[in-house]
Amino acid sequence: MVPMRRLFLLFVVLPFIAVVVSGADNLTPRYYRRTCPKVEQIVSEVVTSKQITSPTTAAGALRLFFHDCFVGGCDASMLITSNAFNQAERDAEINLSLPGDAFDAVVRAKTQLELACPGVVSCSDVLALATRDLVSMLGGPFYSVALGRKDSLASHLRSVEGNLPRPNMTVSQILSIFSSKGFTAQEAVALTGAHTVGFSHCKEYASRIYGYNGGSQSSYDPSLNPRYAQALQKACANYRRDSTIATFNDVMTPGKFDNMYFQNLARGLGLLASDQALLSDPRTSPFVRLYAANQTAFFHDFAAAMQKLSILGVKSRRNGEVRRRCDQFNTISA
Ligand code: HEM
Ligand SMILES: *[C@@H]1O[C@H](CO)[C@@H](O)[C@H](O)[C@H]1NC(C)=O
Ligand SMILES: *[C@@H]1O[C@H](CO)[C@@H](O)[C@H](O)[C@H]1NC(C)=O
Ligand SMILES: *[C@@H]1O[C@H](CO)[C@@H](O)[C@H](O)[C@H]1NC(C)=O
Repeated sequence: MVPMRRLFLLFVVLPFIAVVVSGADNLTPRYYRRTCPKVEQIVSEVVTSKQITSPTTAAGALRLFFHDCFVGGCDASMLITSNAFNQAERDAEINLSLPGDAFDAVVRAKTQLELACPGVVSCSDVLALATRDLVSMLGGPFYSVALGRKDSLASHLRSVEGNLPRPNMTVSQILSIFSSKGFTAQEAVALTGAHTVGFSHCKEYASRIYGYNGGSQSSYDPSLNPRYAQALQKACANYRRDSTIATFNDVMTPGKFDNMYFQNLARGLGLLASDQALLSDPRTSPFVRLYAANQTAFFHDFAAAMQKLSILGVKSRRNGEVRRRCDQFNTISA
């Protein structure tokens, strides 16, 4: 009898122990089926009404989610506000650049969830679900989201540097960031198709439209469509005095999640230097062309890459918690 019990321990209990150790293996879409069965419905209702009243929410949430996941994993560390003792991750962004509407959508959904099932659903799960729902509201693909993330116990401004791509980086630098998180060049291109929605502030592309390469003030990057470049010069004319000025990432169908971003690149309508560079680099251009020609292929690969993104560096019970408030750790500490 005793050996049988030992065997039972080995084969039945051990796998469960292993599962607890790695956060991502523990995730399943049915994680809250007993503890909060309406979680998907609640998040969806709240963020849908938020998006209707504030249409910038969706793109903001998508970018927020990307940044959260790339800096130390999908653990809601990007939602923490700084205090007197600690400068949190979100302070690394210019205040305007991660719009308040996206944070607000998460906070509202979390508030409803705390009423329905207190202390159960993590903020990182709320952000993952909210992002999925908002992308599909804009016309993008719907995909299933595995749940059971725990929220981080830390968030530091200093962790951001080097983990996020910047528009002035070379394709090599960008691909090396994606590769360090386990993403191929094709997945990097598919994910960057997110720039089919939302805005960028003028300073992110000012060097392309004013005094390009040390030329006169009106000289612009020749890879830009001339009429587009001149329209951007006009729109951004006061950007140094007014840092809130921003333009659509996708000038053709700005509010629609489609493959227009890729079609734009071939027409000189890519807004960021990094976007345009994806078309000229031989490691990325085949995928830009594929997605420009075939939206089904883009949606398929984007959804798969988002599912991969959403389990990046997930925290387990050992190194995370379910926050009561998304902007604060449960225990206030330095
Ligand atoms: C190639 C690497 C990337 C670079 C260099 C980059 C850079 C940027 C920059 C500079 C902005 C403008 C921010 C502002 O001025 O407010 C922006 C906006 C945005 N990015 Fe990216 N990004 C990259 C990849 C991604 C990925 C992988 C995603 C999501 C999966 C993403 C989602 C977004 C969204 C949705 C916006 C619009 C945000 C809004 O309207 O509030 N980006 N990106
Ligand atoms: C960001 O907000 C803080 C306080 O809310 C302010 O002191 C700071 O100047 C702002 N930074 C930018 C770049 O707007
Ligand atoms: C890109 O610009 C930022 C400032 O916006 C600067 O700190 C950084 O060094 C630049 N990176 C490259 C690769 O030129
Ligand atoms: C577009 O991509 C999908 C998915 O990869 C594929 O099934 C389909 O055949 C492609 N369509 C064309 C016209 O190439």
